[in-house]
Amino acid sequence: YPLRDRTPGSSRISVVAHRGASEDAPEHTLAAYRRAIEDGADALECDVRLTADGHLVCVHDRRVNRTSNGRGAVSALELADLAALDFGSWKEDEDATWEAPDRQHEDPERTSVLTLERLLELVSDAGRRVELAIETKHPTRWAGQVEERLVALLERFGHTRASAEGPPPVRVMSFSARSLHRVRAAAPDIPGVYLMQFLTPRHRDGRLPPGVSIAGPGVRILRAHPDYVAKAHRVGHQVHVWTVNDEADVELCERLGVDAIITNRPKQVRAQLGLG
Ligand code: G3P
Ligand code: CA
Repeated sequence: YPLRDRTPGSSRISVVAHRGASEDAPEHTLAAYRRAIEDGADALECDVRLTADGHLVCVHDRRVNRTSNGRGAVSALELADLAALDFGSWKEDEDATWEAPDRQHEDPERTSVLTLERLLELVSDAGRRVELAIETKHPTRWAGQVEERLVALLERFGHTRASAEGPPPVRVMSFSARSLHRVRAAAPDIPGVYLMQFLTPRHRDGRLPPGVSIAGPGVRILRAHPDYVAKAHRVGHQVHVWTVNDEADVELCERLGVDAIITNRPKQVRAQLGLG
């Protein structure tokens, strides 16, 4: 493989906590994000969806069934409905052993639904620069409302414009080029990350949809096409890879010179990279 070839502005691999430190705490909860910040993550990844009453909440699946004790689609529920659910105990049930039953579900930071607004507050109070990588989920359903509300919220936090310190501490990720385009139209300084599950012929040479600056391939793409990183770098794009949890994949990413690793285990990945 080619040795790493950093793109300008990228000095070392950035470690991004996928859904928070989601190996150790229930995904998308305040506890998972606090843990990620403590673990030294450079950035936090979160998926956002719009509730029936127009709030952006951090939930991955279309429905709440897997990660809460409730049922139904996020888009059909109001924030108050979500606030009444327990978003943490499923993880404790999954992780608990007979010898060490877990009582952590009594902590509301591990069980409450998280709004994007609350996550932005957490990042503002982190005491160091912590970036946010926000993924718009199924944005076509809402015909632009997800992006509109997202940009309005980011504007309130002063995160839509570059400053003397550099680009905004926020980037928007999506599998939908249209969603990235909408964000860019409203807030051109916010970098866009184009997520890819497969490498289609159109993107094999490293090129991305117009206006998008960062490639977001799944790690399987790099296993199959290790030359992809160099190609993307050659046309000026950073490469942020998901979801990299195995040591062998971290090693592959390091060897290929990716710019960011998105992982459920930021602490272990930092240690492997010699950063922790
Ligand atoms: O960071 C991108 C990655 O999260 C995309 O896949 O399903 O985990 O949202 P998913
Ligand atoms: Ca995601």
